[in-house]
Amino acid sequence: MKTILSGIKPSGSLTLGNYIGAIKQFVQLQQHMDDAIFYLFVADLHAITVEQKKSDLLTAIRQVAGMYLAAGLDPAKTVLFIQSEIPQHAELGYLLQCNTYMGELERMTQYKDKNRKQDTSLTSALFTYPALMAADILLYDADYVPVGDDQKQHLELARDIAIRMNHRYGDCFKVPEPIIPEVGARIMDLQNPGKKMSKSDESDKGYVSLFDDEATIIKKIKSAVTDSIGIVQFDPVHQPGVSNLLTIYATLTELSIQDICAKYESKGYKEFKEDLAHIVASTLKPLKARYDAITSSSELDRILDEGREIASAYAQKKLRKIKQKIGLGRKK
Ligand code: AMP
Ligand code: TRP
Repeated sequence: MKTILSGIKPSGSLTLGNYIGAIKQFVQLQQHMDDAIFYLFVADLHAITVEQKKSDLLTAIRQVAGMYLAAGLDPAKTVLFIQSEIPQHAELGYLLQCNTYMGELERMTQYKDKNRKQDTSLTSALFTYPALMAADILLYDADYVPVGDDQKQHLELARDIAIRMNHRYGDCFKVPEPIIPEVGARIMDLQNPGKKMSKSDESDKGYVSLFDDEATIIKKIKSAVTDSIGIVQFDPVHQPGVSNLLTIYATLTELSIQDICAKYESKGYKEFKEDLAHIVASTLKPLKARYDAITSSSELDRILDEGREIASAYAQKKLRKIKQKIGLGRKK
């Protein structure tokens, strides 16, 4: 049986980028890989690498967990849990840090981007975060890790660490494979299509939150930045805004980009955007309704308790084995 694993940080509100790049593909993958077990967690330890308000963090943790289920992940085939409830993540994270070089972490573009901005709130945990992410994955012997494009480099590092430790200490970890969607792995900001749609953005006009109401969604899509070319076509270099909207359209309808371009061939951006706005709103409406139902019952906590038990049993056993391989403690 194969193991799929992924996580999402509970920081800010989940966006359409998270849905298309991650959550939607989780559900599709689970449907395709019928006999796989999916370890899926809320990466709360990663969220606190930047300062979080306690009440916001608690809300965001429940939102991510609830949204996984609302999107259609099957609880019978999913081990759903909260990262901080399994202390082995942090402990293995430390052991992996001892096998990760500064140079490797310094090369991470996500860190480099933040560091370039001379941000004085950059924490040491944000620097070492890829080692914790590697621990999240290697702790459960994951075969496949579905993520958006921005996590590709972190996954490569996780693979390098696994290979290195297998070499140093003998067979420790399975080397995981990333799964990155062909379309939708990088949904861009609606106001600035040169950058990734992100929930930690200062301006909320650039992203659609999965919790936005219908009127807000429609307004945000309709006011998305386009260009003066006026033709609906896929050209990320010259028409990044329109190309991004085409990607959103294609992933939510499962139509090909070509077919969508043909559909709007002699029409302007206005009609294209209006249609897309309604597609996004009608995708998110039932999602939100299922989310409300799940989070207003005790179902979510029951599933999270069950997930914690299963994840904990696996993690304890795995960590014990790794510590022994390294030569920690007293047992040979
Ligand atoms: P995060 O919100 O940073 O924890 O990301 C959770 C998952 O969503 C990861 O797999 C990301 O790669 C994915 N993701 C985040 N933002 C986007 C985006 N704008 N487009 C596509 N995928 C994204
Ligand atoms: N770092 C990921 C992000 O910001 C979230 C994450 C943490 C993750 N641990 C993971 C994703 C393990 C996949 C596997 O998007």
